[in-house]
Amino acid sequence: MAKNHHHAFSPEMRRGLYEAIFRRRDMREFLPDAVPDDVLARVLIAAHHAASVGFTQPWDFVIVRDIERRREVKRVFEEERQRNALQFEGARRERFLALKLEGILEAPLNLIVTCEPERFGPGVLGKVSLREVEVYSTCLAVENLWLAARAEGLGVGWVSIMRNEDLSRIFSIPANVIPLAYLCIGYVPDFPERPILESAQWAKRLPPRNLLHFDSWNHGALDGDKLAAAMESALIWREIFPDDIPDGR
Ligand SMILES: Cc1cc2nc3c(=O)[nH]c(=O)nc-3n(C[C@H](O)[C@H](O)[C@H](O)COP(=O)(O)O)c2cc1C
Repeated sequence: MAKNHHHAFSPEMRRGLYEAIFRRRDMREFLPDAVPDDVLARVLIAAHHAASVGFTQPWDFVIVRDIERRREVKRVFEEERQRNALQFEGARRERFLALKLEGILEAPLNLIVTCEPERFGPGVLGKVSLREVEVYSTCLAVENLWLAARAEGLGVGWVSIMRNEDLSRIFSIPANVIPLAYLCIGYVPDFPERPILESAQWAKRLPPRNLLHFDSWNHGALDGDKLAAAMESALIWREIFPDDIPDGR
């Protein structure tokens, strides 16, 4: 067995973490079953424990159960979907319009994760060089939420084909708060092993070796590079997944 630093989680605990990472999917189909408050509470607390610039915690969570508001969201989604379709030509436009890209009305719960960039005023640790650090922080909260939800058996679908101004109007979100992520949440019939856009042959996971650069952007992975080879090898997972590596990896 490979040596681990003594702070490493046990193989079983690491397995749980990597299972959540590899088996997380963006979901667009949901069962109507309600999400119990204690489960939702855990998932929201996981989101609230994300890293944030200067510990600003710029997020809020708008829980959306009201069906009338959700119908309005669906209407603005449909308008935006048509506008988005115009960027594609011919057969690709047809394929785009055939994709199911949201579960706004089917999911028992919608949730908006918002970002308030000026929550702690302008003097934020870590903010001088980069203006968008609160937005980055809020995205981390969304990822925490997404992974915790997967561990709880809940599907999450991020719907971005919407204009912020519409969401702000429908949910009375103040002008200084960004409706960063509109999420559909609920139990699902099953979690596909691969991204839905991959199965629909819309896009593929990029080969990891193509993403590596060594010391300079100009130095990619050469043939025989050990790190690139390890990233592509099943052997690195042996200790954590002795029998079955999740297929979606
Ligand atoms: C910022 C963001 C916005 C997204 N917006 C949409 C969307 O509007 N509709 C949709 O169907 N999926 C949306 N997705 C989901 C991606 O399509 C999905 O993450 C990607 O295809 C990979 O699949 P996976 O999440 O199941 O691994 C979004 C994801 C992110 C991170």
